[in-house]
Amino acid sequence: MSKAKKSAPGRVPSHIAVVMDGNGRWATRRFLPRTAGHKVGVDALKRLVRGCLLEAVPHLTVFAFSSENWNRPAEEVSALMDLFVQALRRETRELAAQGVRLRFVGRLDAFEPTLQDLMREGEAVTAENLRLQLNVAINYGGRWDIVQAAQALALRGEPIDETSLSAHLCMAGVPEPDLLIRTGGERRISNFLLWQLAYTELYFSDVLWPDFDEAALRAAIADYAARERRFGRVPPPPPGLRVA
Ligand code: FPP
Repeated sequence: MSKAKKSAPGRVPSHIAVVMDGNGRWATRRFLPRTAGHKVGVDALKRLVRGCLLEAVPHLTVFAFSSENWNRPAEEVSALMDLFVQALRRETRELAAQGVRLRFVGRLDAFEPTLQDLMREGEAVTAENLRLQLNVAINYGGRWDIVQAAQALALRGEPIDETSLSAHLCMAGVPEPDLLIRTGGERRISNFLLWQLAYTELYFSDVLWPDFDEAALRAAIADYAARERRFGRVPPPPPGLRVA
């Protein structure tokens, strides 16, 4: 982001969630293998982190790998795993220096030990950071998250209600997203944070993820800032108009 450019003061979301869609199409349009799109997608993610730091957004959650993504061709899955390993080896130090706290959410035990170790190490090294919490959803599914929370409560014989269930979700304690951005032109939730998105403002962009830049982030935040959030309530009457 050009250093001087920051959104006009106003409502900045406390938590942005992002479905980073369109890497494959970005690559295919350039006659490149799909994995080239994922590689450039990592650069777009770095840009997004810098943008959130600049805008003082305290929580960011990105969908890096869904539980359904295992069904992609084996070479693409394997290339994505290599990319995660490389990105963690290369970027953890820089993220730590930027004041980013890294967290991984999902069924992490499905990954090979090297990647699991790097994820744990990344979390440990950045655990004390407070500027931005970056949650990386990896082998994550919203339905799975709700089921595992309900199972944990049932196993202990504890009552299941909204408060207890929220407290057992992967991202317990993190405020629910104010804004969900999905790039790549699709208008779907795709089993992302199903519980937490109940009152989230949805923003769909046709930009393919590798092209999502500073201006695109500012546009999403500006769109959010202009919305009226009612959480199921009615809007307040205009000033001067009191209903008896
Ligand atoms: C969706 O695009 C993107 C993914 C499944 C992978 C997202 C991963 C990254 C951007 C890398 C993140 C890296 C780290 C270290 C967290 P798609 O392949 O579905 O695109 P398409 O819809 O055009 O096919």
